[in-house]
Order: sequence, then structure tokens, then C-alpha cells
Amino acid sequence: MAIKTSLAAIAAVSLLGGSFAAVAFEGDVSLAQQLAVTRGDQTVVLERVMPKYKRPDSIPFPEENPYTEAKWDLGKALYFDPRLSKSNIISCATCHNPSLAWGDGLARGVGHGTNELARRSPTILNGAWGEVFMWDGRFDTLEEQAMGPITSEAEMAMSLDDLLPKLEKITEYRDMFAAAFDGSTEITAEKIAIAIATYERTVVSGEAPFDRWINGDDRAISAAAKRGFELFNGKANCVACHSSWRFTDDSFHDIGLNDGDIGRGAQLPKIEKMQHAFKTPGLRNIDRRGPYMHNGSLSTLAEVIEHYDRAGIVRPSRSDEIYPLNLTAQEKRDLEEFLGTLTSDDAPVTFVQLPR
Ligand code: HEC
Ligand code: HEC
Repeated sequence: MAIKTSLAAIAAVSLLGGSFAAVAFEGDVSLAQQLAVTRGDQTVVLERVMPKYKRPDSIPFPEENPYTEAKWDLGKALYFDPRLSKSNIISCATCHNPSLAWGDGLARGVGHGTNELARRSPTILNGAWGEVFMWDGRFDTLEEQAMGPITSEAEMAMSLDDLLPKLEKITEYRDMFAAAFDGSTEITAEKIAIAIATYERTVVSGEAPFDRWINGDDRAISAAAKRGFELFNGKANCVACHSSWRFTDDSFHDIGLNDGDIGRGAQLPKIEKMQHAFKTPGLRNIDRRGPYMHNGSLSTLAEVIEHYDRAGIVRPSRSDEIYPLNLTAQEKRDLEEFLGTLTSDDAPVTFVQLPR
């Protein structure tokens, strides 16, 4: 029996408040076997798991900064404008580039004066749902984050004292600020941050084959990818941290990568499990986002899976959810195949005509 029909059966049963046993009762024993996977000593029923991966229908905007088209236009112009940097050659898009799944494809970011940064540039995809930002979680909102890179010596190296008058001299910017902020042409750091955050919230990964499968199209992903999804939720234990439709718990873990960066530990020096802990990245469009990890130390998804299979280095801070997985070669390929189904083909982003 095709899974599509089976899913319909499950939906019908769930609507009636029925249990998994009721589905098996309909004579689909293979489905019961297919949907029950083992994680540790727990049996997970994919019927219950799948709805947790459903995409939301709309983007959440905070009450303090609701969406308006004028803020979005301004935010997009600022995001792509290298004049926000001291050198006039670095914009947000230099390191968070739409063609590179909103990252930069490098192991470490490269900032002002071709200075190599300490960490990899993460994607900004799906930030609208983010609960905490940066690898170490030092910002709570996109608004708080936005001015950081502009004024950071290592990144765009632009002091506010220089930036605000520079933008005020650009006539079209004055008009755009006025349109976005109640007719006032005054330019402030806060308004810049508000506009950029509005634009960033609309950077969302599109519908991927995985979503079509979750929505009931049995043929949207391969049999290998379906096995990979079971492993992800079962034996491979990825879901312990990469949960929800974005595939992140917005929390921090030490996964056993061997470097001197203590990550979240700098904020929480007394909590052992936060040493070497970094924010769990979402996994949307992940096969376009290498190299991987906060330090870019793993080049391919196959290397990432090898890392988890071996569980990295043993130290007191390493998460208890990280342990040797003993995956077979086939299981590793299935997991990778599954990860590939999380990539969406999004319409190309049109660059803006910069304000004059
Ligand atoms: C020179 C490269 C570079 C530039 C330019 C840059 N960033 Fe980043 N960005 C990074 C790096 C590296 C990090 C992670 C740093 C860390 O966690 O310590 C980061 C983190 C972020 C994050 C957090 C993402 C997350 O999920 O936690 C956001 C959002 C972001 N940048 C937005 C911006 C915006 C907006 C601009 C322009 C105003 C910008 N960045 C300019 C390199 C850059
Ligand atoms: C204990 C929580 C946890 C578990 C379990 C876990 N991850 Fe992760 N994952 C993380 C964290 C935290 C990072 C970032 C680590 C870092 O950069 O230091 C990460 C990074 C990644 C990345 C790189 C993302 C990027 O943008 O660089 C991939 C891919 C990934 N994990 C896939 C998996 C897969 C596949 C599994 C199951 C085999 C898995 N993870 C299990 C927490 C976890």
C-alpha cells in the first residue's frame, strides 16, 4: 500500500481521536512496521512525529516591529548596500549571500581589511522564527543583532558618527526613511536596525520535496530519503536537537568538535554543559551551506555524518545526546539522502538599485 493512502488513513483516524493501533487494525501491518522506529529504548511512531515538521503558513513579525512595505524596501536596500561599511565594499550580503543559501561558502567569514573572523558566517534563512541569535546566542532579536556587524571593527568597521551623516547625504535614503518612519527624514541606528530586521524576516526557505512529502505526496522523496528520515528520528537521534520544521531547538550543545572556542560558555561560565556549546543550526537548504559548523571544520554532509557516527571527542561538556551511532554505510547514505530533501528551489533574489 502506498504511504499516501496510509497517510490519509492516519489523518482520518487522528481526526476521530483514534490511536495508532486503529490504523494497524485496518489491515496495514507493513505501515505499522514502517512507522514505528526505535530511538534509544523508546519506540517513536512517525505518525505522531510527522505533523511536527509541518511548515507554518505565515511569517511572525513582532508587535514592536510589524511588517510594512516601506520598511521592507528600506531594509532590503540597506542589507545590500556596501556603503554601510567603511571600505564601501562590504554589505550584509557579502557574508550572507542569497546565492550561497544566505551564507558565504567559507569556513570563516572575511571582514574589513580581509580580516578572517573567528567563526563561520551562518545562514540568515528563517531568522523570523529564531529565538536567539549568533553561534553563542548573545543577541535575543534581529533588531539587536543588526547594528553589530556594521560597527564591528572586524566586520564592516563603520562608526555611527560616520554612518549616519553618510546616509543623510543620500537623498533617496532620506525619502525612504521618511516613507518607513512617519514622514521623519531623521536617520538613526535604531531605524536602520528595524528596517534591516524587517527585510531579514522575509528571508524564508521555500517549499522543499520534504514538505511535499509531509503534506501527503508519497512520491516527493525517495525510499532512501524516507529511511533517512526514520534514522533521523530514531537510531541516529538527530531530532534530539534538530527538531521542528526548521530542524533546530534554538538551544546550545557541545557536539564534540575539537577546538578552543567555548561558545555559549563565555556567557554561562559556570554551567558545564554550556562549555563548547553552540546554537543548533536549522537544516533547511543544508546541502548548499557547506562548509559546516561554527568553525567550518567539516566540508561535506558525509563528513558531518561521520562526525556524529563517531561522536567527536569525549569531554564533560559534551551533550549526553551525542554517542557513537554505529551506522552502516547504507544508513549513512540514507541520512544524507534525507538531508538533501530539505532544499528548496527558491526564486532568485533581485538585487536592488541602490539609493542615490
Ligand atoms: C564579514 C562577514 C559578515 C558581515 C559583513 C555580516 N555578517 Fe552577519 N554574521 C557573520 C558571522 C561570522 C556571524 C556569526 C558570529 C558569531 O556567532 O560569533 C554572523 C551572524 C549573523 C546573524 C545571526 C544568525 C543566527 O542564526 O544566529 C545574523 C542575523 C546576521 N549575522 C545578520 C547580518 C546583517 C544584518 C549584516 C549587515 C548589517 C551582517 N550580518 C553582516 C558574518 C558577517
Ligand atoms: C546534541 C544535539 C545535537 C544532535 C544530537 C545532533 N546535532 Fe547536528 N548540530 C548541533 C549543534 C549544536 C550544531 C552546531 C555545532 C557547532 O558548530 O559547534 C550542529 C550542526 C549540524 C550541522 C551543520 C549545520 C551548519 O549550518 O553548519 C549539520 C548538517 C547537522 N548538525 C546534522 C545533524 C545530523 C544529521 C544529526 C544526527 C546524526 C545531528 N546533527 C545530531 C546539535 C546536534
